[in-house]
Amino acid sequence: MGSVETAGQSGSVAEANSRFFLDNIEMYRKSVDKIGTYKNIRNALNPHVIGIEHLLDIGNGGIFDYDASPVRKITALDLFFDRLPDSVRRDYFPPNAEPVPGSALDIPFPDNSFDGVLMVMLIHHLVGKTWQASWANAIRAFDEAKRVLSPGGKFILVESCIPRWFFPFEKLAFAPTAGLVERVTSHPPAFQYPADDIHKALADRFDISDMTLVPVSSHVLHFGMKVPSMFSPVKPYVFVGRKRD
Ligand SMILES: C[S@@+](CC[C@H](N)C(=O)[O-])C[C@H]1O[C@@H](n2cnc3c(N)ncnc32)[C@H](O)[C@@H]1O
Repeated sequence: MGSVETAGQSGSVAEANSRFFLDNIEMYRKSVDKIGTYKNIRNALNPHVIGIEHLLDIGNGGIFDYDASPVRKITALDLFFDRLPDSVRRDYFPPNAEPVPGSALDIPFPDNSFDGVLMVMLIHHLVGKTWQASWANAIRAFDEAKRVLSPGGKFILVESCIPRWFFPFEKLAFAPTAGLVERVTSHPPAFQYPADDIHKALADRFDISDMTLVPVSSHVLHFGMKVPSMFSPVKPYVFVGRKRD
C-alpha cells in the first residue's frame, strides 16, 4: 500500500467526526433505518453477533445496525461519547449497551478484554494528513482490535469499499479534496480502500472465515447525503475473522 509517513488521525479530522456525528445523530439514525443498503447490512451482521458475550463496538456513533439482544454486554466506543446527551443514551441505547469515550487508534482497554470486536463504517473515517497516513491508521485500528480481543475472539468489520480501478483516482484526489471537504462542508473527510487490500491486512492478523459483498439498494450515504447507488462506486463488505489462539 505504499510508504507510511505519519500515523494518527489529524486533530481537526477527529474533531470534525465528533461534531458531525453528534450534531447529526438523528438524521443518521433515520437514514440507517430507512435506506435499504443499511437493512441489508443489518441482515448480514445479525448472525455474526450471536453468541458473543462481551462485544466492543468501535465507532458506534449511537447507531446499532444489528440486533443487540443476543449479545450479553456491549461496550460502545466513540470519540464523542464524553458529550453524549442523556436523552440519546436513554432513547437510542439498548439496555445491555454502555457508551465509553475513546479512539479506535488507542483503545482504552487492556489486552484480551473482549470476545468480539465490531467496526461498522469506521475505517474510511480514520483520515490522516496523507492517504498513506490514513491507511496506517486503518492498520493501527486492526492491530488495536486484535490486541483487545481474547484468543479465539471474533473480529467483524463492515466497510464500504471501492473498486480497484477507482483507487488511483481517489489517491490523486486526496490532497486537493481533503482540505476542501473540511473547509466547505461540516462532514469529515473520508478515504475508502479496495476490499482486497482490507482482506489482505486482516488475513495478516486474523483467521478470516468470511468476506461477503452486501447488496446495495437504490441509495447509499455519501458525506451524510443520500446518493443514488448508480452514481457511487462504493460497495459494503462484511469481513469476519478470529484472533489466533
Ligand atoms: C459513519 S459513522 C458509523 C456509525 C455506526 N457504526 C454505524 O453503524 O453506522 C462513523 C463513526 O466513527 C466515529 N469515529 C471516527 N473516528 C473515530 C476514532 N478514531 N475512534 C472511534 N470512533 C471514531 C465517528 O465519530 C462516527 O460516529
